[in-house]
Amino acid sequence: MTSHKLAWWQNSTVYQIYPRSFCDSNGDGIGDIPGITAKLDHLKTLGVDVVWLSPVYQSPNDDNGYDISDYRAIMGEFGTMADFDAMLAGMTERGIALMMDLVVNHTSDEHEWFKQARTSRDNPYHDYYIWQEPIDGRAPTNWESAFSGSAWSFNEATGEYYLHMFSPKQPDLNWENPKVRAEVYELMHFWFKKGVRGFRMDVINLISKPWLADGRLPNAPVVQDGFLQPAFEMVKHGPRFMEFMREMRREVLDHYDSITVGEAPCATVQEAREITHPEAGALSMVFQFEHMDLDCQPGKGKWAIKPLHLPDLKASLSRWQSSLHGQGWNSLYWNNHDQPRIVSRFGDDSPAYRERSAKMLATCLHLMQGTPYVYQGEELGMGNVAWPGIEHYQDIETRNMYRVATQERGQAPEDVLRSIHAKGRDNARTPMQWSAALHGGFTTGQPWLAAHDNHTHINAEAALADPNSVFHHYRQLIALRKQHPVLVHGRYELLLPDHSHVFAYLRDDGVHRVLVLCNFSGQTQSLRCSQLPDLKGSIALISNLPDLTWSDSQNQLQPWEASAYCLATWPAPVED
Ligand code: NOJ
Repeated sequence: MTSHKLAWWQNSTVYQIYPRSFCDSNGDGIGDIPGITAKLDHLKTLGVDVVWLSPVYQSPNDDNGYDISDYRAIMGEFGTMADFDAMLAGMTERGIALMMDLVVNHTSDEHEWFKQARTSRDNPYHDYYIWQEPIDGRAPTNWESAFSGSAWSFNEATGEYYLHMFSPKQPDLNWENPKVRAEVYELMHFWFKKGVRGFRMDVINLISKPWLADGRLPNAPVVQDGFLQPAFEMVKHGPRFMEFMREMRREVLDHYDSITVGEAPCATVQEAREITHPEAGALSMVFQFEHMDLDCQPGKGKWAIKPLHLPDLKASLSRWQSSLHGQGWNSLYWNNHDQPRIVSRFGDDSPAYRERSAKMLATCLHLMQGTPYVYQGEELGMGNVAWPGIEHYQDIETRNMYRVATQERGQAPEDVLRSIHAKGRDNARTPMQWSAALHGGFTTGQPWLAAHDNHTHINAEAALADPNSVFHHYRQLIALRKQHPVLVHGRYELLLPDHSHVFAYLRDDGVHRVLVLCNFSGQTQSLRCSQLPDLKGSIALISNLPDLTWSDSQNQLQPWEASAYCLATWPAPVED
């Protein structure tokens, strides 16, 4: 993966669509595939190369499509296979590649395989899933599923527990069984043959369960006495994981010029390097979570919120930048359907600084090395919602957590709601804001989840008409990667690692150098000349200020400013 041999997805930008919330074409309040097709020009104008489409397969929707009951059928609420084909043709016409969501750590419990598997221990599909005998009449381990409650559910017909790392309606598949792997490879071929260009792979690093290889099934370490314990660490990057991934590469991926991204909770840099190594690895890149965990208390899970300390974010992202350079490839993301909106999280969503801080965050991320991901609405600077009661929320993770926290753990509802406002997944799932019309123009019916009140002024129609909007800033950033190869293959170097408010870094490919300066605060930040490379003769590449005002005499960054420069000369060694 050198500068001479770039893969097409390395200078691409990916746009994620969460179909339920994107655009409703038939007034039933639920986004659908014809709705996506109708909005493809929005993506074309933005300039993205790839769409990652969250699941559109048949599903009982326990987890909004991440519980699949038929991998080769389209969910009725979203449309038909003919609608899918038309959407794909529309993307192809516009030069946009399609990446599907591959959810094969688990299926729905309504998938035919599981319906059969649970009927008897002798059923040929029984071994498609993961079963354990009760221990002392109880679940075999203390593991908590990601959606609260035990990760094991009892199945009366066979007298066994089955594993589900998520809801009981999402039983984990048994990847030790070669038939399961063959099924997965076949369904991947099915979608590739239709013309899709790749897959985002849901929690893919959980597929190899360690105890199925070595026979030992341990309890998870106790984080909080008297409760079930988080269990991803017990399962992730298991002993046969890389073997399975290389097999998938050989059996499927090597047959296509594909883009792949593996969602990899708890992944370390070393693991990511193994997975994405250009020769020995298997996938183009992974979604790592380290930077997304920095505003929660270590080990206590996502709901135990704490303020971000910027030097932690810089240290983390910089380690990923340096460690994967030439050895793998990074995905770059702030947002997706599971994360709160970044402008509300690390920026300032108040009217004074919403646009400027949204542009700053975009600039900081997009000028790093990796493939950037834009989640629907991020390009408009959409923010979080703060609804007054749990009844407004739909997300299974949020609702289950609220029930357990308030009913079993005695937490005050207002404290739990505060965490939900900061971290809940519905923040990302409010309808896409297309216009100032009712429900943001998302639907003519009653939306499945309420639109954000601010759709009256934050919407795509307004953003496209305003040359200084967040949308046009994203458009410029996406175009910059195509114009300046240094942004794609240049080395990354962090400056001012300890500065509490400024994120500054260099990109350098030996010929061109780019300096990126981002102020993560609402105060003006003054920097000493000696802290930065010489900016004399440099050319401004992009900024979120109307007039780029930097000069040696001022040396100041305005509140939430982001500015990037092409340097004319190689900087003298930076000293402090
Ligand atoms: C990760 C997905 O991004 C999330 O939305 C889903 O709930 C879980 N995996 C389970 O599939």
